[in-house]
Amino acid sequence: MSTLTAEARPSLSKLASFGGTPVSTKPVPFMSTALTEADINAVNAVLKSGMLRAASKCLEFEQRWAAMTGAKHALTCANGTVALQLAYEPLIKPGDEVLVPAWSYIATVSMVVARGGIPVFVDALPDTMQVDPKDLAHKVTPRTTAIAVTHLYGTPVDIDAVQAVAEKHNLMVIYDAAQAHLATYKGRGLGEFGDAVTYSLYATKNLATGEGGLVTCNDDGLAREISLLRSHGETEKYLHESIGYNYRLNDMAGAIGCSRLDRLPEQTKQRQTNALRYNAIIKKVTGLTPPAVTPGAESVWHLYVVQMDTKRFACTRDEFCNALKAEGVPTAVHYPRSLPQQPALGDFANDDTPVADALATRVFALPMHHDLTDEHFRIVEEALTKVAQAYRV
Ligand SMILES: Cc1ncc(COP(=O)(O)O)c(C=O)c1O
Repeated sequence: MSTLTAEARPSLSKLASFGGTPVSTKPVPFMSTALTEADINAVNAVLKSGMLRAASKCLEFEQRWAAMTGAKHALTCANGTVALQLAYEPLIKPGDEVLVPAWSYIATVSMVVARGGIPVFVDALPDTMQVDPKDLAHKVTPRTTAIAVTHLYGTPVDIDAVQAVAEKHNLMVIYDAAQAHLATYKGRGLGEFGDAVTYSLYATKNLATGEGGLVTCNDDGLAREISLLRSHGETEKYLHESIGYNYRLNDMAGAIGCSRLDRLPEQTKQRQTNALRYNAIIKKVTGLTPPAVTPGAESVWHLYVVQMDTKRFACTRDEFCNALKAEGVPTAVHYPRSLPQQPALGDFANDDTPVADALATRVFALPMHHDLTDEHFRIVEEALTKVAQAYRV
């Protein structure tokens, strides 16, 4: 940590974090998660019906989600973590080596471990921050049976390259799209690719039901297996064909999902417009780099993650973010550690993911949602310029 003072560096005295006047006393909202009257009415209808378990609203939600993402089957479940478990259990065996991203949320990898698989970390690309296909190909061994990678921040990975590695070595592919609702690759929905795709519907996701998850796939047999695993292997009342779990969603969440689906395409377009505005702002600030998108992919910008070249500034990323916060611009760090740096996954770390490890000190996310206004963009631009100038080396 640097210990700069305004005496030692007079340019700091204008910063709100050093007692100066903030760009805005009202913070830019980091996210926009409010329900509409339509969402509330949809839940009320379920409450009035008394049918709270997974029923017609979950079914409607599944059918619409499959159609919107280009998948044959969609299955709702309790959250994005169990969505991964439901996808992994039929496709990965205990002892299998599974290629996983070093740069992602922990669930993508921890559920491989929970399944008894051995995660093998693959580094990230420095510009898109998505999994590096060259390192992926390099890490295949005779024990590798599957690839489990994340479309991180809403940006699809290089799917053609991932599928090419999978085809060459006959590997299963599971895509974690927890952050990538309605993202596309070469104009096609994410549900068209790989053996299974999983989603989270957690409260802050682009599509949110509070808690919730989805798995999509195109194989009838796999869909049946997932459906059985989701509900105690039950084929008719109290007839259990196989061992399973209770990983079901419920119809209140299903109703919120259906209602929010009506607005999701429009909100996604707004996020995409907002990302373009951010790109233009970030390009003007030396030392900051906007996030790159995989060629052929369309990001849905769950998070807009900037990289900071810390050598260009007399402060750490965290000090820079604290200064932005004081100016009225909240930020968040996704993530402060790469996955091999997590104590829980240290046994699998190989010290060979330098890009992911470095991202942990470089990244921060700006407020991103469909409700950003011209005034919000003005505040963000002014605050970024002010903080960058004050800390410039
Ligand atoms: C990439 C990724 N995978 C999986 C999950 C887990 O989803 P959930 O929190 O719904 O269990 C998340 C949630 O943050 C995520 O971002």
